[in-house]
Amino acid sequence: MSGAPIGIFDSGLGGLSVWRQVVHHLPGESVIYLADQAHVPYGQRSAEEIQAYCNEIAAQLISMGCKAIVVACNTASAVALEPLRGAFPQLPILGLEPAVKPAVELTRSGVVGVMATPATFQGELYRATVGRWAGDVQVVEQVCIGLADLVEMGELEGERCDALLRSFLNPMLKAGADTIVLGCTHYPFVIEAIRRLVGPGLAVLDPAPAVARHLGEVLAAQGLLSGGSGGRELRFFTSAQPERFDRAVARLVGARCISQPLVWHQGHLHHR
Ligand code: DGL
Repeated sequence: MSGAPIGIFDSGLGGLSVWRQVVHHLPGESVIYLADQAHVPYGQRSAEEIQAYCNEIAAQLISMGCKAIVVACNTASAVALEPLRGAFPQLPILGLEPAVKPAVELTRSGVVGVMATPATFQGELYRATVGRWAGDVQVVEQVCIGLADLVEMGELEGERCDALLRSFLNPMLKAGADTIVLGCTHYPFVIEAIRRLVGPGLAVLDPAPAVARHLGEVLAAQGLLSGGSGGRELRFFTSAQPERFDRAVARLVGARCISQPLVWHQGHLHHR
């Protein structure tokens, strides 16, 4: 079992920001990455719809032999993490939540900004995180409609990207935020543009390294860490166009990838 792969999924390319940290921190582990690009973006879909997709994706990853699953999507975690854990209690399922706790510890102005999708802010997980950690720190929520789409299209810089980012960053800056939380796994791919626009005085937090470390701890605690002997396998699946996905993987995380297509049919995922 310990040699079995870790399954990581997202609505699209965003979860690759988590994938690259997992691959880096856990060099002995095989990983299957599944991008549900047929349905990206998830952020404005209903909780029921997202839950149905996640349920089927988790079942697919389990049927591929995964020993643990990382929901590398804040949106999917916000609405589907608990239902998934209930439906598949046989393996550890980790999710992503906006890094409010480290932001609260870091801020000196007492104001932190969180960038995320509408579904993430509506979810119980986000409310609970803020309720637990914010204390007297003001948390400014910034819905970032369209930003995940830009990353999917490969537009990580340029005028359109800067204009959209400015429209999201300015309200947080005006409110006095000195710490910004990237509450969507797509956003670390525009972190350079964000840092350039906000300047060096602001902290911009990507939670992916902490998630990878936590995954290592969970696997170790359950005796699921791979011994690391032999070459590991890194496999990729997308529910949209494999060639396009492969080019994006090369561009975003510098990995050579030959992905395999999956197709949705009547609510179920099938190998083509
Ligand atoms: N990557 C997803 C997240 O972390 C969101 C993108 C989407 O809307 O599908 O929230």
